[in-house]
Formats: sequence, structure tokens, C-alpha cells
Amino acid sequence: MHRIIIEGNNKLSGRVRISGSKNSAVALVPAAVLCDEEVTIANVPNISDIDALDEILNHLGAKVTRDKDVMKIDSSNIKNKLIPEKISKKLRASYYFMGALLGKFKYVQMYFPGGCSIGQRPINLHLKGFEALGATVKEEDNLFTISAEKLTGAKINLDFASVGATINLMLAAVKAEGVTVISNAAKEPHIVNVATFLNNMGAKISGAGTSEIKITGVEHLHSCFHEVVPDYIETGTYMILASVIGENMIIENIIPDHVESLISKLEDVGVPMEIGVDYIKISAPEKLLATNIKTQVYPGFPTDLQQPFATLLTQATGKSIITETIWENRFLNLFELNKMGATTELLTNSKAVIIGPCKLKGKKVKATDLRAGASLVIAGLIADGQTIIENANYILRGYEGIVEKLTKLGAKIKLEKENE
Ligand code: EPZ
Repeated sequence: MHRIIIEGNNKLSGRVRISGSKNSAVALVPAAVLCDEEVTIANVPNISDIDALDEILNHLGAKVTRDKDVMKIDSSNIKNKLIPEKISKKLRASYYFMGALLGKFKYVQMYFPGGCSIGQRPINLHLKGFEALGATVKEEDNLFTISAEKLTGAKINLDFASVGATINLMLAAVKAEGVTVISNAAKEPHIVNVATFLNNMGAKISGAGTSEIKITGVEHLHSCFHEVVPDYIETGTYMILASVIGENMIIENIIPDHVESLISKLEDVGVPMEIGVDYIKISAPEKLLATNIKTQVYPGFPTDLQQPFATLLTQATGKSIITETIWENRFLNLFELNKMGATTELLTNSKAVIIGPCKLKGKKVKATDLRAGASLVIAGLIADGQTIIENANYILRGYEGIVEKLTKLGAKIKLEKENE
């Protein structure tokens, strides 16, 4: 495991370039196996989640080359082998191989561990959708066997606008016979990015980005070039950081529309922003105002930005309430922030109150998940003294080059192996 060490309370300024979206890239890479020829994906973030997916592709016998942010994947000779549990449990997004391998071979066997620190993370909506397409699903000790004589287009209504289920069902349906309609589909930017990738290969998908996606099955998917969309959660994380300790910080290579809900919240708390076509320039104001946030599916306030935003709210004057509606256990960062001097309290497991402003002091704290880790990095950067963030591997899963990017902005930050 690694830890991140920060000497806090230094103004950050300059430019930070946003990388390709983790939550898009971790779906695009498994989706590539649907293609019968080589595909090229550019702007792939260099993060450990991609390394884990690369390992799965190699296990299946795909030919993979990575050159900086460009990944070439040739699945023309892959074998539909069981993916060992020790590899598939490295990341949740391994479940996209269920939809992709089912869509390609009409058969897939995979381990799928539920649960992590933010919640149970069931996959019932994915499985129900596979069954609607004609597959049978068997599960024994977390080993799922999903098979179909034939995959036939179907009308699938999602009880919840699940990102994972929406993408997984698109993958399973692209080569099914006939038309599939997914209603109450998720609308996150990565859904559109994956649908565009599949269409570039020759799939017939319309409506991605709306709550109704139509997929007309095709026989063959051909080679194509595709680009990962900029990461709107990384974008938001740096915008929040700039709002508490930035001085003319420019966050570039972004799509401002994708962070509209955050922009509106930052306006509410009194952050002036210069919004360009593909950048946002922010300086931290003298005073931040308290506000309330409630996480929603896209385009509402993203659950993945709730934890970084909580750190900002410790610096805002007044009482703020966070309501988390997506995950049942996504406040573990608050206990760590309190160790640093924040005043936060859990009212229920979905509602927390934060009173500010509080001076934060550097402490030894623990990252419990990826975005909790981001919340602690921001806290360490504004705190007086040294902060040590343990279990920093969580952070490296989703923020490409975070230590280099923050150092370039003027942060005093370093990464160390924990047993050093
Ligand atoms: C994706 O997770 C993201 N992960 C999560 O980001 C993100 O928090 C989430 O979408 C919501 O935006 C990736 O894209 C790899 P969901 P996913 O299916 O697909 C319930 C990060 O920090 N649900 O939209 O797993 C589920 O329990 C990560 O980058 C079911 O009940 O999220 C949750 O309450 C964390 N049954 C809600 O839906 C299902 O079959 C949202 O889940 C599936 C989901």
C-alpha cells in the first residue's frame, strides 16, 4: 500500500489538465472485446483500474498495446475463459466483461464479489436485464454463469437509473437479434461515450444520454478509433480544490456542461468562476457560504463529488447539510475530517451536517475509498502542518498523476510506499 504526505496551507495556482474519464474508460476497455477486429482508444487515463482491466484482457488472450494514453485492443482471437476471482475482484467495473462476453459469445462465467465501503453494490438490475434478453443466470458462491441459446431484443425498464446496468445491458444487446429498449436508463456522460464507441464499431444505438436508449442488434462490429471523454469527476475535484485554496487555477481540457450542477453549487457558496469553452479558471474567495447538497443521478449533483465537496463545506461559514441518495455508506471521510478539526456529524446514514469554517490541522488519516481519499487530499492541502493519508492506493485508482499534477500547482506532496 502507498501513503500520501502533504505539507498543507500553500496556495495553488497554474494549470491542471484533466485526463480521460475513469468511469468511461473502465467500460470502454471491456466493450472492446465485442469487436471482431482491433480497436484504438485514445485519452485512456493511466490509473491502476486500467492496469487491472489490461490484465483481464491478457488473461482472455486479447492482444493489447499501450503507448502513453493510446490503447490498441485486438480481441479477434480471445478465448472465453473464466476470469480468476483474484483479478475480477480488483475493481467493480470488471462486471462489464459480463455484458461484453455474453454479447459476444452468448456465454460468460465470472466471479462477482458484491459490496465495498460505500455500499452493498448489488447487480440485480444487470442480471434481470440479461434474463430479459433471453439469458439464464446461475450463481453459486459469487460465481455467475450466464448463458443464452440466442439473445433477443427486449424492452427493459430499470427500477433505478443504474450506470452499470445501463452500460452492461447495452453491451449485451448490441449483437442481439432485434430491438432492445432500455427505459429509465442512466444519462451520465460515460453512457454517451460508450454508446458512441459502439456506434463507431458499427452498432446501432440511439438515445444515449436520455432516459430511453434503443439498440438494434447487428451481426458484425468492425475496427474503429475512439477517444475517452474528459473525466467530469476529476474536473469537479480540482474545481473544488481551487475553490478552497486556488489562486487563478485553470482546470483545462474539460467539458463545462458535464459539471453544471457543481458550477451552480459553487456559485451558491460564493465562488467566482471564469468559464471558457474547455476550461474553468477559479480563485478561492475570502469567504465561502454554507449550502445544502443532495446527490442525484446525472445531471443532478454527482455522488462522486459529495465527499470532496464535504471538505469545502468545512471551510464554509454556517451550517450545511449533505443528503446522499445513491449509496448507503458514503460518509466515512467525515470521521477522518473530524480528526483534522472539522465539525461534522452524521444525522442518519444518508444525511450529514457540517458546521464551518473550521481550521484544519494536519493529521494521520485513512482513505476508505477513492473519493473519500480525494476529500482527504483536499483537506491536507488546506490544513496547517503535515497530513499523512494511508491507503492512498484507493486514490491512485481514479486520479491519474495526482501527485505530479498537484506538485505542478505548487503543492508540497509526495507518495511513499507504506512499509518505508
Ligand atoms: C458507477 O457505479 C460508478 N462506478 C460509481 O463511481 C458512481 O458512484 C455510480 O456509478 C453512480 O454514479 C463506475 O462507473 C465504475 P449504479 P455503479 O449502478 O454503476 C443501485 C467512483 O467513485 N443498484 O448507478 O455501480 C446501487 O446499489 C465510483 O468512481 C442496484 O440496486 O452505480 C446504488 O444504490 C464509486 N442494483 C445505485 O443503484 C443494481 O443492479 C447506483 O448504482 C445496480 C445498482
